Amino acid sequence: MLNAAVIGFGGIFKGSHLPGYKTLEEKGKVKLVAAYDISEAAFTKDVELNIATSDVSGYGDIRFYTDLEEMLQKEDIDLIDICIPTYLHKQYAIDMLDRGYLVLCEKPMALSFEDCQEMVAASNGKLMIGQCLRFSPEYLYAKQLVTEGAYGKPTSASFRRLSPTPAWGFENWFVDAKRSGGALLDLHIHDLDIARFIFGEPKKVSCISGGKQVSEDAFAYSTLYYDDFAVFAEGRWDQVNMPFIADFRLSFEKANVVCTDGKVTVYPYEGEAFSPELSGDSMYMKEIEYLIDIFVKGEQNVQNPPESAAQSIRLVETLRQSSREHGATLDF
Ligand SMILES: NC(=O)c1ccc[n+]([C@@H]2O[C@H](COP(=O)([O-])OP(=O)(O)OC[C@H]3O[C@@H](n4cnc5c(N)ncnc54)[C@H](O)[C@@H]3O)[C@@H](O)[C@H]2O)c1
Repeated sequence: MLNAAVIGFGGIFKGSHLPGYKTLEEKGKVKLVAAYDISEAAFTKDVELNIATSDVSGYGDIRFYTDLEEMLQKEDIDLIDICIPTYLHKQYAIDMLDRGYLVLCEKPMALSFEDCQEMVAASNGKLMIGQCLRFSPEYLYAKQLVTEGAYGKPTSASFRRLSPTPAWGFENWFVDAKRSGGALLDLHIHDLDIARFIFGEPKKVSCISGGKQVSEDAFAYSTLYYDDFAVFAEGRWDQVNMPFIADFRLSFEKANVVCTDGKVTVYPYEGEAFSPELSGDSMYMKEIEYLIDIFVKGEQNVQNPPESAAQSIRLVETLRQSSREHGATLDF
């Protein structure tokens, strides 16, 4: 069983990673032994995110530190889970990789493609980025339909991720686009990355973004152009006082497939609609498990290599450029 420690005991860690570690400890794969956060208050405060609410009661015998060097010195750690705000990812990920740790770093990989390239150069096969949708049973089912061609070729697809403005963050960093990249980088990247994962690289792309009343690039409408179909994605942080919604629709030559409220339904042109039986596993638990499994077995990361996560940042940069050029269609 590996030992893990987290850097950044904030919203995403407490809301989504922590329950994953509990499951993985029961499976005998990893034990969360320590947590480092700059703020001592983070260790006892629950957080309400757009996607989850944390429950920090009863998380076992984790040792808490407000001094990173002390934690690294005192603890026997294999895996470092980086869950600090995006503007800190590059610095901490490279530092931990240089010290030889296995590193899981939350998405988005970094603020710029240039920074991502530095992270890839330091990775030595020991870095994975938390592009969690690549481990979601619903999105993996969609990928399987495309790969196997059960309903013919894809003809179009759309992905939506509509969120209230993130208000839980450290020093309100989410709405400062210099630190978060706005929704275009922070939120929209989930659907951009999964579109690349399912369909491969688009030939051309275009984007309109806006929403300045909330933050720079607080919404984005992006289109990814492939040879004979297109993917549309919408991401937004301006759904004030509204519930969080994430869904997708895929159209094929012989069926439509929709996912709403976490449930996939297939509507074939011929035959009855049906919902496939999919695993209820948390994608956050599955991403940690995947990283541990390939590390222990000495296998290559084929599902979510950092080189690919970096390309999703390059895609965001191209879309941002398109938006600055009033939606111009650009090569990718
Ligand atoms: N995969 C997902 O679905 C998902 C969802 C939300 C957030 N995220 C990503 O996770 C990362 C963290 O987001 P969050 O929502 O947890 O943010 P957050 O602000 O809630 O938590 C960040 C934590 O880091 C701590 N921190 C800040 N600076 C630090 C430093 N120098 N050293 C140690 N601790 C420090 C803060 O005190 C806070 O507890 C971001 O990159 C975000 O984009 C991913």
